[in-house]
Amino acid sequence: MKRKAAANYDALIKPDRVHSSLYTDPEIFADEIDRLFHHGWVFVGHASEVPKPGDFRLKRIGKQPVIMVRDSAGELHLLLNRCRHRGATVCQESRGNARSFRCAYHGWTYKLDGALAGVPYPEAYDGTGFRRENFGLVKVPRVEAHRGFIFASLSPAGITLDEHLGRGRKMLDRWIDQVSEGGELDASVGLHKYDYRGNWKLQLENSVDGYHPPTVHASVMAAAERELAAAGSKLDDLADGTTSDLGGGHVTLTQAVPVSQAGKVILLVFPNLALVGIQMRVIEPVAVDRTEVTIIPTIVTGASEEATRRRLREHEGFFGSAGNGSPDDIEVFERVQMGLTADAEPWILLARGKHRERADPAMGAVGGLRDEVSQRGIWRQWKKAMSAGIGIADVRTESVARVGTGIRSR
Ligand code: FES
Ligand SMILES: [Fe+2]
Repeated sequence: MKRKAAANYDALIKPDRVHSSLYTDPEIFADEIDRLFHHGWVFVGHASEVPKPGDFRLKRIGKQPVIMVRDSAGELHLLLNRCRHRGATVCQESRGNARSFRCAYHGWTYKLDGALAGVPYPEAYDGTGFRRENFGLVKVPRVEAHRGFIFASLSPAGITLDEHLGRGRKMLDRWIDQVSEGGELDASVGLHKYDYRGNWKLQLENSVDGYHPPTVHASVMAAAERELAAAGSKLDDLADGTTSDLGGGHVTLTQAVPVSQAGKVILLVFPNLALVGIQMRVIEPVAVDRTEVTIIPTIVTGASEEATRRRLREHEGFFGSAGNGSPDDIEVFERVQMGLTADAEPWILLARGKHRERADPAMGAVGGLRDEVSQRGIWRQWKKAMSAGIGIADVRTESVARVGTGIRSR
């Protein structure tokens, strides 16, 4: 498939403002699904979500349905959820344990590693050149893991995961070290999902937004203020922190006194993962004005029941569907999307702290907690990737139906 010429993103993204069509134009949305999600590296899941042979979870890479599965030898695979006969999905359950995947249409059956195990009434293929070994489920061409974090690219060629993560890799390590408390992270305990009528980048920007809590989360802040006062401290201490642009769209928000105790660094791994508190937050664009978010809390293997209970309750208290934090953010996303339709004056301002952004060898560009360094960082990369492509040839004219070699890990 040929790409259309890119929109003039230069005209739509300025250093201190972006144009609202970037959140509302369906053609721009299609372009970003193609370039960012179907050609770049995206986060898919955590290896601990499928701990045992046969465990699987349904995932998506951009618009494409994918099965993350552990085979009988313990190897992890990412398989496109599409029957090689006439295209039906072969797995419908969002999670579970299976011995094989059997297509419900004509009964083709696939092994856990994707190999085609059998087809009903095979004699009709005699003399057609059909060979079972050529019709396994297609593997996602590039899959790499970093400390259990599984990333994938639907493009067989392009920059490595290491290059994609850049400075973000160190921060990812820091986050893992903090929330795993010296143990192993376990992301298999559960998850919750929500969707909202708004663009996916609203959740991206919000995950690293240090400016909004005093307003959107006023009730939480009031409670925090009371606790701080009891401890002889004051609310101003909560403003102590930084936002940073690590490059590559990976950005952080660091609080000296975090509202949530676990995880003092919020890290956004461009384009679809936010690490907030103890959670992996996976952001999935559905339409230009529709987004699904999956919140996966982590626990620590071997931690006491009491510590795990406390950890999960604290997480749910703010981020849960009945929590006192996240539902307010979601309400605001829908208000933004609605407001953006009034586009006589179409610009969105991202200028906070621009004059005082400073360069840091480890953290890239750094500013205050309530500055918009992190949002500007997201847009810097967005423009770069969308204008120049991501150094990857358009591959979808060719078949990628080759047998992959499983997941590389380091
Ligand atoms: S579409 Fe899957 S067996 Fe026919
Ligand atoms: Fe918030």
